[in-house]
Amino acid sequence: MRSPKDFYRPLAVGAPAPLREIPAVPSRMIHFFPPSNARMVAKVPDLARKVDVLLGNLEDGVPASEKEAARAGLVEVGKNWDTPGTQLWARVNSIDSPWGLDDLATVVLEVGHAVDVVMIPKVQGPEDIHYVDRLLAQLEAKAALTRPVLIHAILETAAGVSRVEEICAASPRMQGLSLGPADLAANRRMKTTRVGGGHPGYLVREDPSSDGTRRATFQQDLWHYTIARMVDACVANGIYPYYGPFGDIRDTVACEDQFRNAFLLGCVGAWSLHPAQIPIAQRVFSPSPEEVRHAQRVIEAMGDGTGAVLIDGRMEDDASVKQCHVILSTAHALAA
Ligand code: GLV
Ligand code: MG
Repeated sequence: MRSPKDFYRPLAVGAPAPLREIPAVPSRMIHFFPPSNARMVAKVPDLARKVDVLLGNLEDGVPASEKEAARAGLVEVGKNWDTPGTQLWARVNSIDSPWGLDDLATVVLEVGHAVDVVMIPKVQGPEDIHYVDRLLAQLEAKAALTRPVLIHAILETAAGVSRVEEICAASPRMQGLSLGPADLAANRRMKTTRVGGGHPGYLVREDPSSDGTRRATFQQDLWHYTIARMVDACVANGIYPYYGPFGDIRDTVACEDQFRNAFLLGCVGAWSLHPAQIPIAQRVFSPSPEEVRHAQRVIEAMGDGTGAVLIDGRMEDDASVKQCHVILSTAHALAA
């Protein structure tokens, strides 16, 4: 079987392993739509032209009574899919739910030619990926597909986080991982009731000054540890890390902050749950013209890439050149 590496054109990033690849196939926003909703399905051709990835969601958010309608809606979308520049993904129900097996069978047998990636929720360990991998192999053979359907796992259980490296390495079909902050919060027994983002109670205060007053309070990032761990596991295995959902649709500022933190830590994209989040992800996960210009300036000043130079009072050396190549190759891949 061919590996995801055959589908993601490796680009030289001027850095030694483990940064083997960057996403040559853009996936800055994985835009969710509910295929059980005929009104939304009618908007798919238009929506598909505005996003990098369109994902038909069969899992949480779809009422139990609409699971079959959602599956049928996704099949309709896959049969009429006509947007080659955009990837079509499917989030199936978990493999221990009553629907997961039928979801996978229907998606691959009916529209496997159109679906690039299946997103598997609530993954607990590599055995879940092995199970899906074998099932996909059988279904692909039955459907006579000529390219493999890839796997994207959602990191949303404490067991999954504790075995994240094994999950990433579990199959050559692994395309990437998304943080699922809502289920992860519940599974870890965190005391939040939100879908991603921060919490005003999770903060650090500056020590009181001599008169007893305090000047500053800083809200902290609830997801820093998990995102950083996920990024390391993904990069070490040549697959792609993503931030997941940001549920407060009205708070576009906090959404952009959450996406940017993930981008800076190494994520290549995030989920968009509403059209308002599409341009946010597009902006955040594309290097800005200023960043690209600065990267070019450093690379030019560094000549053969070794040694050190002073630019605007800052020391740049071989390692900063490698970071600048990451910015440039990301920009090139997105422009391609
Ligand atoms: C996503 O599925 C989440 O649980 O956050
Ligand atoms: Mg979830």
